[in-house]
Amino acid sequence: MKASSISPANIAFIKYWGQKDQKSFLPYNNSISMNLSNCISKTTVEFSNELKEDSIEIGFENKTFSKLSPTESGKNGFLFGQIENIRKLAGIAQKVRVKSVNNFPSDAGIAASASGFSALTVALCKAAGLNEIIADKRALSSLVRQAGSVSAMRSIFDGFTESCVTENECYTQQIADEKHWDLVDIIAITTLDKKSTSSTDGHSGAETSPYFAVRLQEISERLASCRKAILQKDFTKLGECMEADTISMHAVMMTSKPPIFYWNEGTMQVLNAIFKWRNEGLQVYFSIDAGANVHVICLSKDAQEIEASLLNLDKVLRTIINVPAMGTKITEEHLF
Ligand code: PMV
Repeated sequence: MKASSISPANIAFIKYWGQKDQKSFLPYNNSISMNLSNCISKTTVEFSNELKEDSIEIGFENKTFSKLSPTESGKNGFLFGQIENIRKLAGIAQKVRVKSVNNFPSDAGIAASASGFSALTVALCKAAGLNEIIADKRALSSLVRQAGSVSAMRSIFDGFTESCVTENECYTQQIADEKHWDLVDIIAITTLDKKSTSSTDGHSGAETSPYFAVRLQEISERLASCRKAILQKDFTKLGECMEADTISMHAVMMTSKPPIFYWNEGTMQVLNAIFKWRNEGLQVYFSIDAGANVHVICLSKDAQEIEASLLNLDKVLRTIINVPAMGTKITEEHLF
């Protein structure tokens, strides 16, 4: 009962921040994202009668692996909860060994939980024989959410996807596949430090911002524009609604109680450069998740020039180039 999967992180063009039900991780609003080809988690799991307890090891670029404790709080604790959820669904009692590796730094505003939680859920389902759930992507996306991450459910489908929330359910659907549009997301890394506030803690404070209600009022229109911009490949429209949404989410973060400031000097340096390049006629926009690193979005024809200019900024440590990617897949390449 060993299985492995591979899954991308994603960048949300229209983001979710805040959960109307924190027990079932139900977001207040839909969100739209693009899978990232170069921010990948690989996970291998094995259920066995030989094991006395569940164990999870996580590594970065195959170098150091750290072992998570089952008593861990926050997101890492949710991973053990997801193992339990899947054991119940499959009606099995065996303990499981999990090993997972990311090819990009986690906790720095690149959605590590998106790739990691989706890879874990799919590998567990495969190893536990839950093949009908794997075949039903809508049900699978909903199960991925139960791991504690809404962003993770968007990684299941290929390409550009939307997580859709109803009164008491949330599932993902595809807007277009990964070949639809040659966009590039150049992540400008301005810090490798762990972020100050986890997204789990941040979500719970969203409602304390006086601007949260305004954000929710605006979001349906922004979602509609974003969907249309992707389908019509209208880059200016996509860029405008993506930037407006990032600013709106960070305004909510900064005005929550207590306030959360994720940006650093490097973030502002990249933003100012983008404004300057755009004034000079280059088509380039930004998106920022819960962290200081900036996702610089452009068309593939401009990517080389923009990456070189980003690397000339003294606060940019390195870049990661991504194109639209396929979603979570089963692989026969095991990590142990
Ligand atoms: O689903 P979570 O808990 O990983 O939170 C994701 C939050 C943002 O990345 C800031 C926004 C988003 O929609 O991806």
